[in-house]
Amino acid sequence: MSARVLQADAPGAIEEAAGAIRAGKLVAIATETVYGLGANALDPFAVARVFEAKGRPSFDPLIIHVADAAMAREWVVDSEDALAFAARFWPGPLTMVLPRVARLPDLVTSGLPTVGVRVPDHAATRALIRAAGVPIAAPSANRFGAVSPTTAAHVLESLGDAVDVILDGGPAAVGLESTIVAWESGEPVILRHGGLARETLEAHLGRALPTRLFASGLPEAPGQLKRHYATQTPMRVVDAPEPTSDRALLVLCGPAPRGAGAYTQVVELSPAGDLREAACRLFATMRSLDAAGLRGIDALACTRTGLGAAIMDRVERACVRDE
Ligand code: TXA
Ligand code: MG
Repeated sequence: MSARVLQADAPGAIEEAAGAIRAGKLVAIATETVYGLGANALDPFAVARVFEAKGRPSFDPLIIHVADAAMAREWVVDSEDALAFAARFWPGPLTMVLPRVARLPDLVTSGLPTVGVRVPDHAATRALIRAAGVPIAAPSANRFGAVSPTTAAHVLESLGDAVDVILDGGPAAVGLESTIVAWESGEPVILRHGGLARETLEAHLGRALPTRLFASGLPEAPGQLKRHYATQTPMRVVDAPEPTSDRALLVLCGPAPRGAGAYTQVVELSPAGDLREAACRLFATMRSLDAAGLRGIDALACTRTGLGAAIMDRVERACVRDE
C-alpha cells in the first residue's frame, strides 16, 4: 500500500497526521534539514516499525523532535545550561544529546543514558507535534545508507510503501541534517557537522568547540559510518576536473572551472559560491545525477569552512565504496 500524501497546509491535514502518530503509524515529516520518518517516541512498537521501514541493520539511537524548549525539558534531566544554549538556535538545525528521563522507551535511544532532541524549524511540523501531544522520534526518511530526502517526492520514491502518511511541507530549506552537539561536563562537543555551522556556534560561545565525530562507547551511529548518504553511481572527490567519458562533474560551490566542458554533464550547486544554496541543493542533485546512469560522478571539492564542513562530510561518506 502506498503512503497517503497530505499537503501540510490543507485543511485537516495536521489533525489527520497527528491522529496517525497517536495510532502508532509512520508519518514522514518535513523539517528544514531533511524529511524525517516519524513515529510516536513513546510507543515502542511504532518505533520498531521505523527501523523496519528503513532497513537499518541495527537499532541506532533516534532523535526526538519536540515543539519547543519547554517540551524538550520534559524528556531530559540536569540540562538547564545546555537548554539555554540550544534555545539560542531553536527552532533550527541543532540536535542536543542530553541525559534523558527513564520513561523514554529504550528503543529510541538504543539503551543509551542520553537522548538526541531538537526543535525543527518548520511550523507545520511543530503544529503536528503539538497536536499529537508526544515527541516524534525520527531518523532521516531514506533507506539505510542512502541519500537523505529533501522533498516529499524523495520519500514517496524510496519509502512510499513503508510509511502510512507523508506530510508534504515543501522542499527542505537547509538541505543537510542537523548539527549534533553533546554536552559533557558542562561543555558542548560537536558529534556531527550539519546545517548549523561550527563557526556560528563558536561565535555565540566566544571560543572554539571541540569535535569528536566518532564517539567512543556508542553503538555505531549511522550518520557516523564511513560509508553513508551513498549514490549507486560511484562518486569521488577531485580538486580539479579530470574528465573521462561518461562522467558528471558536480561543482560543490562556485562556478565550473575551465576544463569542465569535457564532462558529459556538469552541475553547479551554487555558481555564485553561496554555501547555503549549495547545501540546500546537494542531496536532490546527487539523486538526479545518480538517475542519469553515468559511469561516475566527480565532486569538485569546496571549502571546509562554514556549511562546507558538512557538505564535504556528506560527499566524502558517499564516496566510500564497500571495502
Ligand atoms: O536533521 C536531522 O537531524 C534529521 C531530521 C529528520 O531531524 N534527522 C537525522 O536523523 O538525521 P538520523 O537518525 O539520520 O541521524 C541521527 C544521528 C545518528 O547518527 C544517531 O546515531 C545520532 O544522531 N544520535 C542519536 N541519538 C544519539 C545519542 N543519544 N548519542 C549519540 N548520537 C546519537
Ligand atoms: Mg540519516
